[in-house]
Amino acid sequence: MKNFQFKNPTKILFGKGQIENLSKEIPENAKILLLYGGGSIKKNGIYDQVKKALSAYEVVEFGGIPANPEYSILLKALQVIKEDGINFLLAVGGGSVIDGTKFLSAAALYKGDSPWDLLTANKPTTEGMPFGTVLTLPATGSEMNSGAVITRKETKEKLAMGGPGLFPFFSILDPEVVKSIPQRQLANGITDAYTHVLEQYMTYPTGALLQDRFAESILQTLVEVAPAILKDPSDYAAASNFMWSCTMALNGLIQQGVPGDWAVHMMGHELTALYGIDHARTLAIVAPSHYRYNFDSKKEKLAQYAERIWNVVDGTVEEKAKAGIEKTEEFFHSLGIKTKLSEYTDDYSETGSIVSKRFTDRGWTGLGEHKTLSPSDAEKIVEMSY
Ligand code: NZQ
Ligand code: ZN
Repeated sequence: MKNFQFKNPTKILFGKGQIENLSKEIPENAKILLLYGGGSIKKNGIYDQVKKALSAYEVVEFGGIPANPEYSILLKALQVIKEDGINFLLAVGGGSVIDGTKFLSAAALYKGDSPWDLLTANKPTTEGMPFGTVLTLPATGSEMNSGAVITRKETKEKLAMGGPGLFPFFSILDPEVVKSIPQRQLANGITDAYTHVLEQYMTYPTGALLQDRFAESILQTLVEVAPAILKDPSDYAAASNFMWSCTMALNGLIQQGVPGDWAVHMMGHELTALYGIDHARTLAIVAPSHYRYNFDSKKEKLAQYAERIWNVVDGTVEEKAKAGIEKTEEFFHSLGIKTKLSEYTDDYSETGSIVSKRFTDRGWTGLGEHKTLSPSDAEKIVEMSY
């Protein structure tokens, strides 16, 4: 096991009715900017619950943060923060609203030339304006981590940022919010969380027995609850297991002491930036090809995964590993998620070389757990995903 230091300061309020406790978590003198997305919270009652809980505060609102939070829109929110003397941010939404809020938390205190530097400087963010979240969509784990991914349409870029200054002060996780989530987003949430675990697990054996079993238990739980969630999102027992699995998949715990891959996300982000494909679906497109391309270096973990998650007990390591990839694809298909780029766009013939060039330009010359995956490897993997 590798050495590690681990601190996650985010307070979690989990369960039915927890939105009522919002005011206990926010300082009395706070002037709050309530941030939300395209309006789902106004239809499903979450907005009303939040407003009621905040009745003692001065609250300014900023809605309209789109899926894949857009930089130019966030700059408008930044203006509101500055002009209205905001000192606390509250994200009410999924990963996009929460990530947008993290960017604003950093940008509000940023002293450099342009807040876009926060995305390109490759430096951890150590301070931000305090913020909390009310999660409405289990998927990204953003509610309990310090990372954010921001999109800039103008340049077709989607880049990540983060650091110890960007953990939410608190996050409210009420599984009752799941009942209004459309099928497409439920499938996305399961797929994203599942792939987050794979990115931290599908590397090479390190003898980290507990981390492996943490990871496997999240995968097993997602596989077990997926049919129930898709059938009936108001099934509270399934929704609560789904929600907590998504948070645990990316709150840092399972990454401690083990190598991480994350190349699937890096390639996937480009597919969203280029074609607007939902984040989770880009992962389902790339992951199977990535595991086939890197088969030799990942086959031991692939075989362990096939055995422990999918009960593939017969065959050689190679046979089990191959079955593990096939089972993963079948799982994504069972959620209604397509796994080929050509099923999402006709404009794919140059995608591999575009991704490769972008990685080269950014100096991303060694991705993956061995830091050896070159831009030309990424090109081939993306081509295998056509
Ligand atoms: O905008 P509204 O109207 O709220 O509708 C949203 C949106 O259209 C809807 N929705 C959310 N909660 C709902 C609901 N509809 C009905 N009922 C509810 N309770 O769902 C749609 C998608 O929302 P979004 O926030 O975009 O989805 P998700 O949570 O999957 O977030 C995706 C974003 O997170 C980034 C992705 O790249 C993408 O930009 N990620 C962030 C990560 C992180 N910070 O750690 C890690 C991930 O790997 C990922 O990259
Ligand atoms: Zn993801």
